[in-house]
Amino acid sequence: MNVEAVRSRFSALQNGFAFFDAPGGTQVPDEVGHAIANALREASGNLGAPYATGHAVEAILVRAKDDAARFLGATPEEISFGMNMTTLNFALTRTAGRELQAGDEILTTMLDHDGGVAPWVELAEDKGLVVKIVEATDQFTVDYDSLESQLSDRTRVVAFAIASNATGSLADAVRICALARDAGALSWIDAVHYAAHEPIDVTAIGCDVLLCSPYKFCGPHLGIAYTRRELAEAWRPYKARPSKLRFETGTLPYELLAGFSATIAYLETIGGMEQIRTYERELGERFLAGLPDNVTLYGPPTMDGRVPTFLFNVDGVPADVAAHRLADEGFGVWYADNWYCVALGPRLPEQSLRAGIAHYNTAEEVTGLIAAIASL
Ligand SMILES: Cc1ncc(COP(=O)(O)O)c(C=O)c1O
Repeated sequence: MNVEAVRSRFSALQNGFAFFDAPGGTQVPDEVGHAIANALREASGNLGAPYATGHAVEAILVRAKDDAARFLGATPEEISFGMNMTTLNFALTRTAGRELQAGDEILTTMLDHDGGVAPWVELAEDKGLVVKIVEATDQFTVDYDSLESQLSDRTRVVAFAIASNATGSLADAVRICALARDAGALSWIDAVHYAAHEPIDVTAIGCDVLLCSPYKFCGPHLGIAYTRRELAEAWRPYKARPSKLRFETGTLPYELLAGFSATIAYLETIGGMEQIRTYERELGERFLAGLPDNVTLYGPPTMDGRVPTFLFNVDGVPADVAAHRLADEGFGVWYADNWYCVALGPRLPEQSLRAGIAHYNTAEEVTGLIAAIASL
């Protein structure tokens, strides 16, 4: 991948600041902003207007569904857009919940972001469901023994994040979906963190529901849900009755959908997610190899079983102090407590630093970050 050519497409990357921001929300290439502005200029109005802007809105929606379907290996009919992953997940879990009975069980994992867990917790509160938590191993990966031992004939859903936004750990999605299927349960994937780093094929994974958020992969602030066709058709959605859209309540943000299509075009022109994975892994290896001895890493110690998102602390330097000093030196790294992973919180230090590599980072930026960490 020609990273300099990639970076030339981002005004945001021209000022020398090194963004290690993939887990929180990435930078966006200028062409995405242009597409959003063009849509507002040329396609304002709403679906159904019998004149040019109405047709333009419809074209944006059709294209965005095609693009999302291609990105996820799904069909356009299986795609829904929403405000963000969490909002879509509350809506879809409510819909699925119509068929659940008191005592039914939902499995979640200790590595999950609360956007993937809270919707089930709230549904459980209303309907008397039981939400269980699969343990994490010492390396902060899914404990498959814990998962298998918690599956039961009351398990209705296995919900999990493919990649942890805290530690970067990967879950074996194919394995978990097969376990869910064998138990007669739905598999429900949070791919928000994962989607920025690796290709997704919902058919190969064998999942029932998968959610992600384009603002984590150089797109606008939006959420996307894949719902397997037979499932989506069987559910009774909460919606305004005349609407033909099943899970998309009200008017969609068409300008953001135009921006989303520009994001997909951008990703495809730089070589697609396979290329991004290969390049990011090299940067991740460089980061791990260069980490000074006084750094404690939480999560898989090599690039095996992880994406290049690193949770760590520097001995003797509080994470908030370290993050502010790194920012002053031109490196965008975050600090926090539980990273929205509520169940993992007690296993994590009170505060930690997180550096997330994106495909627009350079080897020089990674080397610079390591040196800046060492100088703390
Ligand atoms: C793994 C993971 N899941 C879910 C979310 C929530 O996504 P959204 O902000 O689109 O609701 C995030 C956001 O950081 C995340 O990293």
